[in-house]
Amino acid sequence: MRPARIAPSVLAADLGRIGEQVAQAQAGGADWIHVDVMDGHFVPNLTFGAPLIKALKKITTLPLDVHLMVTEPEKYLAEYADLGIEVFTFHPEATTHVQRQLAAVRERGLRAGIALNPATPLSAIEEVIADLDLVLVMSVNPGFGGQGYWRPATDKIRRVRAMLDAAGSEAVVEVDGGITVKNIGAVHRAGCEMFVAGTSVFGQPDPVAAVRALKAAAPIGTAV
Ligand code: DX5
Ligand code: ZN
Repeated sequence: MRPARIAPSVLAADLGRIGEQVAQAQAGGADWIHVDVMDGHFVPNLTFGAPLIKALKKITTLPLDVHLMVTEPEKYLAEYADLGIEVFTFHPEATTHVQRQLAAVRERGLRAGIALNPATPLSAIEEVIADLDLVLVMSVNPGFGGQGYWRPATDKIRRVRAMLDAAGSEAVVEVDGGITVKNIGAVHRAGCEMFVAGTSVFGQPDPVAAVRALKAAAPIGTAV
């Protein structure tokens, strides 16, 4: 089993203290920083984009894991790549030529990710497995932090991991939404290795301890 890694989501951070909060997550052992870009169109919420990414590059050495919940994500690829992000993940419903976009992401030297909404079937990635570096399984409908974990995501993760393994893919399986110290163990056992955590890190009084607690809970966990 691959070790569990944590990608705290700055959606739940206090933007007035973003530097301090991200440093705390890093001190706790965070592996990536997850950045939720929302356009108020693909999802019913509006968040941030290039200015925050630029600020984050100044305050952390951790890879930036950018999750685009926007229509036409290709519009942002060049700008974000130039800013030095690591992972560019988009939703297949948000663009017409998914394979072309995945290839374009890799051409920029970034990791290419596809996000699967709860209702999006695995067939959305079937033909592009060789073009993928990451599959982000949404365990909430995207748009907001602090929602409860969508339980069928655990079995979906199992099926995504099996599909990738069968194809000989080393792509990372990442989960996003409602991850807590209580469910991380079972989701890890299902084959997930990267855990987005907003409320469970920045919604806690001590983000350093919160990241450590998630990692400590991963190998054991309890029923989801
Ligand atoms: C939801 C976002 C998530 C969000 C997760 O649309 O994609 O990354 O920050 O927040 P929690 O961990 O609070 O569910
Ligand atoms: Zn996200």
